[in-house]
Amino acid sequence: MHVLVLGGTIFLGRHVVDAALRRGHRVSIFHRGRSPSDVPPEVETLLGDRDDDLAPLAGRHFDAVIDTCGYTPARVTRSARALSDAAEAYVFVSSLSVLADPGPAGQDESAPLAELPADASPDVVTGETYGALKALCEKAVREHFPGRVLVLRPGLIVGPRDPSDRFTYWPRRVAQAGDLLVPPLSQAVQFLDARDLADWMLRLLEARLSGTLNAAGPRRRLTLGELLARCAEVLGVAPHLVECDDGFLLEHAVRPFVDLPLWLPPDAAGLLDVSLVEALACGLAFRDLGETIADTYAWDASRPRESEVRAGLTLERERELLAAWASRG
Ligand SMILES: NC(=O)c1ccc[n+]([C@@H]2O[C@H](COP(=O)([O-])OP(=O)(O)OC[C@H]3O[C@@H](n4cnc5c(N)ncnc54)[C@H](OP(=O)(O)O)[C@@H]3O)[C@@H](O)[C@H]2O)c1
Repeated sequence: MHVLVLGGTIFLGRHVVDAALRRGHRVSIFHRGRSPSDVPPEVETLLGDRDDDLAPLAGRHFDAVIDTCGYTPARVTRSARALSDAAEAYVFVSSLSVLADPGPAGQDESAPLAELPADASPDVVTGETYGALKALCEKAVREHFPGRVLVLRPGLIVGPRDPSDRFTYWPRRVAQAGDLLVPPLSQAVQFLDARDLADWMLRLLEARLSGTLNAAGPRRRLTLGELLARCAEVLGVAPHLVECDDGFLLEHAVRPFVDLPLWLPPDAAGLLDVSLVEALACGLAFRDLGETIADTYAWDASRPRESEVRAGLTLERERELLAAWASRG
């Protein structure tokens, strides 16, 4: 196949490039050239802006488009319309944030979707509108590629190259050992190694599958406690976990998923516990969790330390919270 990746230079898109090449496909990427690109030389790079300069795609034909950077319906409509006669299939990377109610566990692909509030702009992506806009993007792609769209809805995507610092926080913090502030350990957690997602995406495309699929893992229910125990085992450390409850964390303005990644209070915890029945039936496969932890840790340790991490508690803030927890009435 000749695959066009919209994006392709940062995280998931970059892994999609590797997966496609590994599986013997020809790859072109389309991006603005603002992010540094280290794609292999055999990848064709097309420079343009999907918001106002799709000219480099004119007159081209692709077997499949993989859209890793669609966030607003106007942007997605533009590329889907431009490519509807130029590509056989369109993979849209959506998100589990499309779910209308993040609370219930076990939601499948037919669950109700979030709607954009009447007073919100369809062109402005915020934490509040992200999910509803992704749902509108899904709809826009289906209109232009009827019956030829594969929508994948990942939860947290993790692994090497992840710029978000979310999953990465845990191996990094566990490795530092000592007293480690953690949210309720019995909570279910789901995530998917970007490399597994990329490989699965390509296999689904090769099989000409269309439809909509949740994209998360692992295969069986995993708790946060089990994840942290595995991090400690893989990294050869023995941190002392100090488990705090939801109420304490919320009272102390700890932001779910931002300050403590993979922690969601009960009214949103369904986002970490969706149904994977369809995904597994369609061949989603997972590398060993230990490999994801070890590779993520090694990648993180190898990159230049940024002044500010994007997610997770600073050690100083963690110490304050540990003191507050120890002295609570
Ligand atoms: N990370 C998660 O946990 C998570 C969870 C659920 C869903 N998702 C979804 O997964 C996708 C992941 O994205 P990623 O960052 O890993 O993808 P990526 O493809 O590695 O990076 C984004 C790419 O889009 C390009 N780009 C941005 N704006 C553009 C424009 N106007 N025109 C052309 N190219 C443009 C960027 O390059 P230039 O800057 O050079 O243009 C870059 O190559 C997103 O759709 C996200 O909603 C992520």
